[in-house]
Amino acid sequence: MSGTGRVGVGVIGAGKISEQYLANMATFPDLAVQFVADLVPERARAVADEYGVAGAGSVTQLLESGDVELVVNLTIPVAHAEVASAAIAAGKHVWNEKPFTVDRDSGRALLKQAQAAEVLVGCAPDTFLGPGLQTAKRMIDRGDIGQPLTASIVFQTPGPHLWHPNPDFLYQPGGGPLLDMAPYYLTALSQIFGPVTGVAALGGSASPTRVIGAGPRAGEVFDVKVATYVTAIYDFATGGIAQATFSFDSPLARVGVLEISGSEATLATPDPNKFTGEIKIVKTGEEDWQTVEVTGVAGGRGVGAVDMARALRGGGRHRATGELGLHVLDAMLATAESIESRAFVDVTSGFEPVDALPPDWDPTVRVV
Ligand SMILES: NC(=O)c1ccc[n+]([C@@H]2O[C@H](COP(=O)([O-])OP(=O)(O)OC[C@H]3O[C@@H](n4cnc5c(N)ncnc54)[C@H](O)[C@@H]3O)[C@@H](O)[C@H]2O)c1
Repeated sequence: MSGTGRVGVGVIGAGKISEQYLANMATFPDLAVQFVADLVPERARAVADEYGVAGAGSVTQLLESGDVELVVNLTIPVAHAEVASAAIAAGKHVWNEKPFTVDRDSGRALLKQAQAAEVLVGCAPDTFLGPGLQTAKRMIDRGDIGQPLTASIVFQTPGPHLWHPNPDFLYQPGGGPLLDMAPYYLTALSQIFGPVTGVAALGGSASPTRVIGAGPRAGEVFDVKVATYVTAIYDFATGGIAQATFSFDSPLARVGVLEISGSEATLATPDPNKFTGEIKIVKTGEEDWQTVEVTGVAGGRGVGAVDMARALRGGGRHRATGELGLHVLDAMLATAESIESRAFVDVTSGFEPVDALPPDWDPTVRVV
C-alpha cells in the first residue's frame, strides 16, 4: 500500500458522534486528523476548532485535500453510500459509520468500486475490537464455554428521541432499533458463530410519531417510518442460534445484554456498544457468576480506523471490514423483510473471519 508515516484523516459529518471520534483520534498517534467537513461548513469549522484540527469546510474541499488519505464518514445512514462513493472516487480509503449503507445494492456497489480503485473500506462498529469483546472471543476460542450453542440479546430503551438533538434519522429507513443498534450485537456474535444464515422476526411500532425530547428542537413532532420494536431468531453458519430483542418502545431501559451459552458454561459479554466492561461466566453446576479480568487497552470509537491505518502501511488485513458491514446490513434487512413477510428469510452473504487481536494490541502507541 502507498504512503508512509501517520495516516491523514478527514472527518465528514460534524454531528453528535464526531465528538467521540475526534477526542479519541487525538490519542491515536497512527492517525493525524487534517480536515473536518459537513453539509453545514460552519458546523465543521466549530468542531474542527474545538478539537484543534487545522482544516475545515465543505466535502469537496476535504476530498481535494492531498493531506487526507482516509475519510471517516460520520454522516447519517442515508448519506453513507453517496459520501463513501465520492471519497473512493477521489482516491481515498473510507471508514464508514454503521449501518454500512441502507440497502444491499449500494453496499455491494461500494465494495466493487473500492476494489477497482484499490482502496480499503472499513465499517463500524469497532467496539468488537475493544478489550471487552476481544477477551470474550479469546476465552471462547480457547474453549472456556465448550461448544458455543445459543445466545441471548437484549437491547430495549424508550428511544433516542429523548436525548438526541436531531433524532429523525433514527426513526427512518436506515434507523430504528434494528439498523441503529443490531450492528453492535450481530457483529459481536458473528465473531463467535460466523455469518448469519437465516432469520425469523416479528415487530411493530407503538406510535406513528415521536416528540423530540432535548436540544433546540425539543417539542417538535416527527414521523416514525420503521419498526420500533423487533424480536428475532437468528441462525449462524457454525450452527449457533440466537434470540434478540431490539426496542425503542420500552419504558424500562435494559441494554448491553449479550449472553452466550456453550456446552460447558454461559458467558456474559460487556455491552457490545462499549469497548470494555465486565465479563462474567458461570459453569455447569455452579450457581454464581464469576467475574473475569478483561485484558487490553480500550481506545474507543476510531480504533477500527487505526487498524486500517496499520493495514495500509503494513500491507496486512484490517478487521472491521466493509464486507463484514455489508453482511451485517444484509442480516438486518433480512430481519425487516421477515417482519413484513412473517416467514424465515435466508441470508447468503458472508465475510472473511479474522483472528482475535493479541491482548497487547494498543491503538494509543505509534506503530506506523
Ligand atoms: N449519536 C450516537 O450516539 C452514535 C453512536 C454511534 C454511531 N452513530 C452513527 O454515526 C452517524 C452519525 O450520527 P450522529 O448522531 O452524529 O448524527 P448527527 O445528525 O448528529 O450528525 C450528522 C452530521 O452529518 C452531516 N451530514 C449529513 N449528510 C451529509 C452529507 N451528505 N455530507 C456532509 N455532511 C452530511 C449533518 O449535517 C450532521 O452535522 C450515524 O451513522 C449513526 O448511526 C451515532
